[in-house]
Amino acid sequence: MAMALDALLKRCRAWKHSHLLGTKDLSREDISLVLDVAEAIPSVRASAPLKGRRLFNFFVEPSTRTRTSFSLAARSLGADVVDFSPSNSSLTKGESLKDTARTIESMGVAFTAIRHSASGAPMFLSRLVKSAVINGGDGANEHPTQALLDLLTMRQRLGKITGLKVALVGDIAHSRVARSNLWALQKMGNEVTLVGPSTLIPRDLPARSTQDLDAALRENDVVMMLRLQLERQQAGLFPSTSEYVRFFGLTRERLGLLKNGTIIMHPGPMNRGLEISGEAADSDRSVILNQVSNGVDVRAAVLLLLSQGGT
Ligand code: CP
Repeated sequence: MAMALDALLKRCRAWKHSHLLGTKDLSREDISLVLDVAEAIPSVRASAPLKGRRLFNFFVEPSTRTRTSFSLAARSLGADVVDFSPSNSSLTKGESLKDTARTIESMGVAFTAIRHSASGAPMFLSRLVKSAVINGGDGANEHPTQALLDLLTMRQRLGKITGLKVALVGDIAHSRVARSNLWALQKMGNEVTLVGPSTLIPRDLPARSTQDLDAALRENDVVMMLRLQLERQQAGLFPSTSEYVRFFGLTRERLGLLKNGTIIMHPGPMNRGLEISGEAADSDRSVILNQVSNGVDVRAAVLLLLSQGGT
């Protein structure tokens, strides 16, 4: 067991980043390292390599998967977790993000995982605190650990993470998951197509786009459905939800268009009956719960890498 841990920690020292703010900053080698370390995590859990360290789960926006899996990941490696509830915190009395983070940090925190509705909040924080900052999702900007667990799931299910054709479908404009996946998938040598109404696909993203979902289902190895972020929509971006389903929903009828071996992904939370039908979400092509499971090992890998590496 100690041998396995020593070998893994030695590999982790190749990591050169003090924080994980986005996949845009990661190299191909960095991404492969996270996936490899994530797969080795079960073999080193019993050694509790993060015993004595603390993770501050600084979630200012709601989360089920990311927040829970950061807690499980940290605890599984022996670390303690400081959870945060914005509505019961002194943020409600006007305390700033900076003062909140530094207050908790002065109680002894090695890692701060932050989720915030403002794009750039994790970068801002990383300049102010001593702990390693991990972006748990910032506005429509990035959600790096989600993309990394998505890539691990693709590699496990399809046997490779290069040379794949991947369709990101739906509300690209508001999706940090789409951006983090786009940067990571392109860096690993995959072909990404953005599928959705033109009003929901930003023109400045460097990828092919189409409104033809049926063709995308026939051509791609991975179909990643994205949540229609109803809470962030401005009026007029699409005519109605029923029209959206007709053109861009992964309905039961459309399942028959998928080519052999294609997997269905969704980062969650899902709007069943909107961007994805219950039949698609629960079909044998769906790897949605594998994505969730992989979140724990990927986040544990990120914590371990940040504890060992850094500039
Ligand atoms: N995929 C994702 O970020 O889910 P949560 O909002 O539940 O964390």
